[in-house]
Amino acid sequence: MTNLLEPTLRVKTRPNDANKSGDIFGGWLMSQIDIAGAIAAARRAKGSVVTVAVKELKFLQPLFIYDIASFYTKITAVGKTSITIEVEVYAERYNEGVNEATSTKVSEANLIYVAVSKPGEKRLIPVE
Ligand SMILES: CC(C)(COP(=O)(O)OP(=O)(O)OC[C@H]1O[C@@H](n2cnc3c(N)ncnc32)[C@H](O)[C@@H]1OP(=O)(O)O)[C@@H](O)C(=O)NCCC(=O)NCCS
Repeated sequence: MTNLLEPTLRVKTRPNDANKSGDIFGGWLMSQIDIAGAIAAARRAKGSVVTVAVKELKFLQPLFIYDIASFYTKITAVGKTSITIEVEVYAERYNEGVNEATSTKVSEANLIYVAVSKPGEKRLIPVE
């Protein structure tokens, strides 16, 4: 198990991902968090995983259109068939008039995945 947050997914937000007020729809971000967590869990499980629970999901700051959203993951627990993943999301954006990017933590979450051999059929996590 690693204690470091690994860069797992990076996505540029698009106008279609926004809600009426112009920032990014929370459901879009939840979906990307789930994808990032699943990538990390599937690597450790050496195969398919399904999301079984989202333990905590915080929206800390808004994410805006054309931000670059970076998803970092860390395995925090490995059980018999489950893997718990922490996800942190950072938004990189260029501010008007300032010729450099800023990076802001916008979200964090903990999700649990179960290794499956087919839908509905759990399997043991391989020993590392
Ligand atoms: C995942 C699935 C196969 C688990 O089957 P199950 O027989 O009910 O499994 P269990 O209750 O024994 O739980 C399996 C593991 O998940 C953990 N788990 C299950 N629910 C949990 C929860 N709410 N919180 C934390 N851990 C949980 C269990 O502790 C267990 O961990 P361990 O084996 O490492 O000790 C089944 O629930 C399923 O197919 N769910 C649908 C998944 C899915 O479609 N996800 C996408 C939703 S959009």
